Amino acid sequence: MATATETAASAVRHEAGKSAPAKSALERFGPVDMPDLTFTRAIEKATAPLYERVKHHIPEIEWPVHAPYVYWINRLKKERDAVILAHNYQTPEIYHCISDITGDSLQLAREATLVDEEVIIQCGVHFMAETSKLLNPHKTVLIPDMKAGCSLSESITGADVRLLREAHPGVPVVTYVNTSAEVKAETDICCTSSNVVRVVESLDSDTVLCIPDEYLARNVARQTKKKILTWKGHCEVHERFTADELLEYRKADPAIQIIAHPECHPSVVEVADYTGSTAGMIEYAKGRQAGSKVLLVTECSMASNIEKEARGVEFIKPCNLCPHMKRITLPKILESLVYMKEEVTIEPHLMEPARLAVERMINLKPN
Ligand code: 13P
Ligand code: SF4
Repeated sequence: MATATETAASAVRHEAGKSAPAKSALERFGPVDMPDLTFTRAIEKATAPLYERVKHHIPEIEWPVHAPYVYWINRLKKERDAVILAHNYQTPEIYHCISDITGDSLQLAREATLVDEEVIIQCGVHFMAETSKLLNPHKTVLIPDMKAGCSLSESITGADVRLLREAHPGVPVVTYVNTSAEVKAETDICCTSSNVVRVVESLDSDTVLCIPDEYLARNVARQTKKKILTWKGHCEVHERFTADELLEYRKADPAIQIIAHPECHPSVVEVADYTGSTAGMIEYAKGRQAGSKVLLVTECSMASNIEKEARGVEFIKPCNLCPHMKRITLPKILESLVYMKEEVTIEPHLMEPARLAVERMINLKPN
């Protein structure tokens, strides 16, 4: 459903993005040696300012293990002309010591359109790396672990979306970015947790298919007059939180602020004081007064990453880790830079329709 302008503007880019690279990324960029990972005095000195950023989360005794990776990743990313994009759920040593850009899914997608470097290393999950590739068909996009998936993304296929369209003719399809390029290619427009209501409201239809996250869709349905149809996908991390569990915390301390991600069940969102994307949660936490207690109902690495920005706020973080996000580690990021792996590619026929769905979201004007 591309407009004439979109089709014309994208034709040139699509041509360039169409041909799969004949050579591997390592062949194109050339080899470099795996560096010696000894914790030398020089490395200790060079990484001391970075350790300052994470000293509340990484014991001093552990730093000699991380420091050589941090040092060599920062050196090699310059040699390789690479930029590191990291999601808010990455571990503190990745988030604070080696990444160039951090953010939620929407911020990372927007930033991906602005980078100058030739190589993008995506520290996040596979759908995020695919989004970067869709927006940068000419650049080399690497993910340190190809198996870093997402339960939402895996819950639906392109064929499922085609069946949904057959069952609901004429109903526009809004797809969460937590999906594969194959699913995005069947979509009218993408959304993230930070703009989903705005995206739904922008469509000229009283009924909207909002897929694949059932809970996100149900949470949106409470904020719009439109009829929202959905799918049975769930985030395996956020579906674990229950309202009863949160009410127990509130009973123990009535002043506690509960902030939740909209991938949580609607009954969880109901008891939260604030619900928003990971970036929205960070902003909300930063706005609390020193001495406030904030219960973070999301992936628990995020609290460690934002403690510095939300000074004086005490975070309570019932620990639910995303096993996919946690596949990304410093050793794997270093291997990405040394061996130029793992390269993210998208089938040529999916490039154009999937990219348009993402670009329509990015180009949507703020309210
Ligand atoms: P955000 O867009 O809010 O960062 O969410 C991404 C995600 O995967 C949450 O589980
Ligand atoms: Fe997917 Fe949930 Fe992990 Fe986010 S936290 S990447 S939605 S499984």
